[in-house]
Amino acid sequence: MMRILHIDSSPMLQVSSSRKLSQALIDAICQRYPDATVIARDLGRNPPPHLREETFLALTGKIEASNEQTRKEVSDIYSAIRELNDCDALVIGAPMINHSVSSALKTWIDQVCQARMTFRFTPEGAQGLVKNKPTFIVSTRGGVYSSEESRAMDHQESYLISTLKLMGIEDVHVLPAEGVDKTHPGREQAEKGALAQIPDLLSYVFNKSIR
Ligand SMILES: Cc1cc2nc3c(=O)[nH]c(=O)nc-3n(C[C@H](O)[C@H](O)[C@H](O)COP(=O)(O)O)c2cc1C
Repeated sequence: MMRILHIDSSPMLQVSSSRKLSQALIDAICQRYPDATVIARDLGRNPPPHLREETFLALTGKIEASNEQTRKEVSDIYSAIRELNDCDALVIGAPMINHSVSSALKTWIDQVCQARMTFRFTPEGAQGLVKNKPTFIVSTRGGVYSSEESRAMDHQESYLISTLKLMGIEDVHVLPAEGVDKTHPGREQAEKGALAQIPDLLSYVFNKSIR
């Protein structure tokens, strides 16, 4: 049975292209694998707390948690790591916010990217400890970043891809929607373009990785 982890991270809750597209991707995967189960984490709606020193030290066993808040934060980090380890496919709705990912998604990454838990250092460099799995980044942004000059300002896709790789997840595919802005007539067009890519993207990803 396929387990899908569905993460959304836009701070926008009413009109959200990344949510719309990530849900369309989830629906299409579930159509392909009708017995799939989905765990949904909406980080935009429920942002995880920033990583604090006491939480980090308690998580890594250096101190005992001194209060309920720290115990809850440590336990939530373990849950987030478990969800990442246990899923067979990962879908991340990731709008560009000030040239990077949303702070909620950054905080999730700070939860799950943990040395000795999801990656480790070896003499040959860092080694991922999470099982590789088909992963989709639904990448929405108001601008267009295809030119050489503007690609250098994209710290959203490149950041996500490199942190996932650090943890061992390399089968990563981007579903792009550019020119997605509330005041822009391009929003609908960008969504339509991204939706149209889903069938071919899924055929490509699942025909090669799951037999
Ligand atoms: C606070 C804020 C910062 C943003 N920064 C950028 C940016 O640096 N570059 C860009 O192309 N779009 C930027 N955008 C536009 C969003 O990327 C775009 O509206 C979003 O991808 C659409 O996805 P959503 O509807 O799911 O939020 C920003 C939007 C907000 C609200």
